[in-house]
Amino acid sequence: MKNNMLTLGIETSCDETSFAILKGERKVLSNVVVSSLKEHKEFGGVVPEIASRAHLETLLACLKLSLKKAKVSLKQIDLIAVTRGPGLMGSLLVGLSSAKALSMALKKPLVGVDHVIAHVYSGMMSDPKLKFPFLGLAVSGGHTLLIEMKSPSRYEILGRTIDDAAGEAFDKVAKMLGLGYPGGPEIDRLSRGEDTNKFFFTRPILTQDSLDFSFSGIKTAVFYKVENLKKNKPLSLRDKKALCAGFQESVCDVLVQKSVRAAKTRKLKAIVVGGGVSANSRLRALFTKAGRQENLKIVFPDMSFCQDNAAMIAGLGAALHREGRQKDGLELSAYSDFNRRDRRGN
Ligand SMILES: [Fe+2]
Repeated sequence: MKNNMLTLGIETSCDETSFAILKGERKVLSNVVVSSLKEHKEFGGVVPEIASRAHLETLLACLKLSLKKAKVSLKQIDLIAVTRGPGLMGSLLVGLSSAKALSMALKKPLVGVDHVIAHVYSGMMSDPKLKFPFLGLAVSGGHTLLIEMKSPSRYEILGRTIDDAAGEAFDKVAKMLGLGYPGGPEIDRLSRGEDTNKFFFTRPILTQDSLDFSFSGIKTAVFYKVENLKKNKPLSLRDKKALCAGFQESVCDVLVQKSVRAAKTRKLKAIVVGGGVSANSRLRALFTKAGRQENLKIVFPDMSFCQDNAAMIAGLGAALHREGRQKDGLELSAYSDFNRRDRRGN
């Protein structure tokens, strides 16, 4: 296989339509992302039917733009990598059908890629010095997972959330406080420079050696605190900011503590923090501090890999193809739930 092979990545798992062209396994020639977020805002969350239709409308223009930016033609593409899950089923099927059609028309191999593993794998694309094995924390609106990454195709799940995903808790708390959607960036912004102890929320550690997460308890604690404060007078901006800071500190603290525990237990020297919540500035600060204290290498993939994007899909797809462990045909199916992926869902 060529070292400079061109991989076309396709990502349509949620509300972002993305096409990317990758040269080799790291050089991103283009990474076009078009979001339908604006169309979902009034509903306070992603509406699956709207997302699927938006993908259909945007898809062809995205593909053309990704080729134009990369200065390559479709005929030059060597491999097609596509997200097959987890995500919204309708949205996934738009991308998957397009990938199959392109694979058939161009007579090029097709590789199905797991979106969550790609978020963690993107650490390899951002940091050339990063080596397997490493610990991955995938943290987003849909997932909170601790994964031991042994190779592009071999990994082991060490811990997961037993209720809400971290990003989901951010969205729900933002809604309680009357902030916009998505909640993560708003809470991050309002928390800056605030006292994190004015409203202290207990860290849900579960059992001492558990690597699982639970965020619904913090969310409920914020709810009762808000209700209590509102009994006397409407919630002030000052209180909102302090509530954001206290809540964010609790979530980030747990994410860091459990990741460090997992890395030490498995004797892993590096942690990659991937997914939408990895853009949170407090999470980055706490991980950086913990990395220094515990002598762990902390990798935050480039910001462009934090949001949903096709470059990371192309990257993992190219690595899986190199390993020769995965060759997918037209029977390739989508899965909405990470737990329902089959053995090729990596
Ligand atoms: Fe994602």
